[in-house]
Amino acid sequence: MPEYTLKIRRYQPESREGPFWEEFQVELEDSLSVLDGILQAKDRDDGSLAVRCSCRAAICGSCGVKINGQSTLACKTQIGHADAAANRRNGGSNPIVVEPMANMPVVKDLVTDMESTHWTKIRRVTPWLLPAGDPPEREYIVEPESMIDITQSMACIQCGACVSACLSMEVDPDFIGPAALAKAYRFVGDPRDAETKERLNDLAQDPHGIYDCTHCFACIDACPKGVAPMDQIMRLRRAAGHDHDIDDANNGRRHEMAAVKIIEQKGTLDEALNLQETYAPGIKGKLKPPRGAMKALLQSIPTAIRGLRTGKMRSLPKLIPGIHAKLPDGAQDEVKAIYRHAEEHRTELNLYIKGEGGDEEEGT
Ligand code: FES
Repeated sequence: MPEYTLKIRRYQPESREGPFWEEFQVELEDSLSVLDGILQAKDRDDGSLAVRCSCRAAICGSCGVKINGQSTLACKTQIGHADAAANRRNGGSNPIVVEPMANMPVVKDLVTDMESTHWTKIRRVTPWLLPAGDPPEREYIVEPESMIDITQSMACIQCGACVSACLSMEVDPDFIGPAALAKAYRFVGDPRDAETKERLNDLAQDPHGIYDCTHCFACIDACPKGVAPMDQIMRLRRAAGHDHDIDDANNGRRHEMAAVKIIEQKGTLDEALNLQETYAPGIKGKLKPPRGAMKALLQSIPTAIRGLRTGKMRSLPKLIPGIHAKLPDGAQDEVKAIYRHAEEHRTELNLYIKGEGGDEEEGT
């Protein structure tokens, strides 16, 4: 029987000591799960090892943890795969590292407090239907095709892996977050709901709402059920900004529209122009800019300073709006062709921007 080492991050609040690491040797078939390994360690070595689980079949969503740094379900991760990943990552005979999920308080060992960071936010998005008029005598009848759009968000099992992986939440703990926003789309996209615009307006105007997502893709990688929460957030943005014309007080819609327009024109992101178009759209080329636009530009100074500090706007072409070069050798035409295709087929695209941070070749 293969042997594995689990290195588990422990925290026993009753001991009044801080967190510590402990290694356990387990013996089980490589096709069994990391959760099976944890339960074996609990059974044979230390009954006080706390872990939350129920179905052991990737259905109930209760066994969310971090394995080798990745947020996932312990019962869905084969121990043989986790061991191979640990050794690929660290290059040697390394233990499988298991930690509680991030972005939420730890109650004990691998058990986290889902109430304060997950369930509170789920309730925040009004996770139930708000239909118009009196309910029908029997059930609501809808065309099956009209529900296809929301089946992906309905697959969520509320495990919190996306919340644990979310980089925005790490910076802004008040961010509504990927799980709750995916839940919000489940009702925004439901043809029976009558409060679509109100829901979208609420989520767009909230400074910790749909425009707080930084598009890092971490929640898509972490989700064990293919919900792709970031895609649901982008659908909420499209519905708010494009379908319902909601202009938010956070400049989120204008920032997004400016980025889309600039990349269509240049292929890479002109950060200075993006800032200008976000805060004062249409100011470009005006000899006498309106006073409101000048005020908005002055308000953008703190954002510009952050851009300078993080390196986003460090070189001269990144500082002066509009002098950012286009992609060379017809590559720009290819970018435009992607835009045309997306518009004609109403394809949803997520843009990866690479080469903006260093000496790498620039491209989209
Ligand atoms: Fe139910 Fe893992 S124990 S999802």
